[in-house]
Amino acid sequence: MAIAQSLDHFVVPVDDLVVAEEFYVQVFGGEITKRNGLNLRQRKRGAVPHTFIQIGGKRMGVYLQSDERPAPIGARGLPTYSFTTTDRGLEEVTTTLNQLGASFEGPVNDANSFAKQSLFFTDPAGNHYSVYTPKDSSAASGAATGRMTAVGYIELEAPDVEASIKFYQNVLGFEVKSRNVKLNQATLKMASGQNLLLTEAPFASKGLVMSRKVPGPHIAFYVAAANWPAAIERLEKLGIDNGDRGAAKERTGDQGGTYMDDPAGYVIQFITDGME
Ligand SMILES: [Fe+2]
Repeated sequence: MAIAQSLDHFVVPVDDLVVAEEFYVQVFGGEITKRNGLNLRQRKRGAVPHTFIQIGGKRMGVYLQSDERPAPIGARGLPTYSFTTTDRGLEEVTTTLNQLGASFEGPVNDANSFAKQSLFFTDPAGNHYSVYTPKDSSAASGAATGRMTAVGYIELEAPDVEASIKFYQNVLGFEVKSRNVKLNQATLKMASGQNLLLTEAPFASKGLVMSRKVPGPHIAFYVAAANWPAAIERLEKLGIDNGDRGAAKERTGDQGGTYMDDPAGYVIQFITDGME
């Protein structure tokens, strides 16, 4: 049974907030909606500077790292975050990356079973991204009219692929669509049609503490309001520790959903209507 409906948004670590903001605005056509951790009140509370950027109709985030990360080896790597776009959007991203002198791979045809044409590149902090035209345009979360049309697939590191598959099957209700034994990879499908790729690899340093108890980078999945009580009940039944990290945030009510750790080390957020 589907518990989580779709991949809603993600928040990634970056080593320079200003540089990241500029890149996300220029390349993805993002719109900065909120900066946090830059005033005295927030600083006294210990907030780490972070910015929210509207992309593909969703609120993405970039969080300032506390430590360096090794530079990426190539355009493609783990984890990979992605957005869907149109043919025109793909051309625009290509032009922008060329103007910025950023290296990228593509357009690649059929890079994934669900992608027509894909571009692969990293942001200035080394986070891997793909922007692609989907084969099935309904396979998307949200519908935006900007350069990015929606949040696409996500590919995550899974030091223990079996454990990660079990987690996303049992806790989120995703279905295993295929297994690639050679790549040690599993593709799971969400009710939205979006894909989650789990690839066997060590969980590389993200440049800061990754924990459900610490505000920071995370991956958010949308749970339909009607499924919310069942989703929370399922967490309890499976003994998955979770809760809001609101202590360090300025929250009102249940605004922030609930956070948990996945077997690899990613922080997962459940949100439903009215949450972000
Ligand atoms: Fe979130």
